[in-house]
Amino acid sequence: MPDAAFTERRLAGQTCIVTGAASGIGRAIARLFARHGAQVVVADVSETVLEGGAPTVATILEDGGQAIFRHTDVSDEAAVRALVDTTVERFGRLDVMVNNACIRHARRLTEMDRGDWDRMMAVNLTGVFLCCREAARQMLTQEIRDEARGRIVNLSSQHGMIAAPEDIAYGVSKAGIAYLTQQIAADYAADHIICNAVAPGKIVTGQGGRLLDEAVLDRARRRTPWPRFGRPDDVANAALFLASAEASYITGINLMVDGGWMAA
Ligand SMILES: NC(=O)c1ccc[n+]([C@@H]2O[C@H](COP(=O)([O-])OP(=O)(O)OC[C@H]3O[C@@H](n4cnc5c(N)ncnc54)[C@H](O)[C@@H]3O)[C@@H](O)[C@H]2O)c1
Repeated sequence: MPDAAFTERRLAGQTCIVTGAASGIGRAIARLFARHGAQVVVADVSETVLEGGAPTVATILEDGGQAIFRHTDVSDEAAVRALVDTTVERFGRLDVMVNNACIRHARRLTEMDRGDWDRMMAVNLTGVFLCCREAARQMLTQEIRDEARGRIVNLSSQHGMIAAPEDIAYGVSKAGIAYLTQQIAADYAADHIICNAVAPGKIVTGQGGRLLDEAVLDRARRRTPWPRFGRPDDVANAALFLASAEASYITGINLMVDGGWMAA
């Protein structure tokens, strides 16, 4: 492996798309990748930062990094294709695709409307499928660099390995992402496309609603051995590792960043 892989800027000169990077974990990933020298494409349906502050691209530019915003609904096939095409036109290549965008609609099975189920699947699972597919199609055309034509990092969850209380569509979509990750890793290893997932536990982001419900927080507190909830940067650091050349000979994993939730 070249020494350059171990320098401070672990993604120097690489082009990375991060979906859902306006807010929360995606925003932290985009900012960290930019600090490590990546050209970051922020792909989101909105530039509004749920937790407050300047838009992601503005903060990256202010920090001296490189980033552009592309309005993209990940459930829209044409929009995802346009996202990858624009990225390659602008930067010449797609090194890393981070599939982080998600929506939430917590219901038990018997209270789940068909339309809401379809929308959850369209964004949380089909969106990841479409982004992986367009990214992989592009990566297959690229030269191998640091042993990879490209790397994909998907955001799964501990919910998807164990039941997400009264949140069936979210859990099913996240279980699907873990499977999709393994399947892509196995099918495209020979093509030097790397595909891994990061599975966050309870991470405090700007989302309100049910995620701030005291009963939901209390359960997460009881389930998390580490004496604090996660921060977006905890997940971003794991995504950086999997996106970088330091993660060699690793594909198809679902890396827990959960303060021990799944260990206890
Ligand atoms: N926060 C947690 O505790 C936690 C735990 C486990 C897994 N995760 C996963 O981490 C990822 C990020 O979670 P978060 O808490 O930062 O979420 P968030 O709600 O704070 O941010 C989600 C982002 O996705 C964007 N988005 C929504 N629909 C979109 C669409 N159709 N196309 C493009 N962008 C869209 C939103 O605008 C927003 O910027 C998700 O995949 C989530 O499932 C989060």
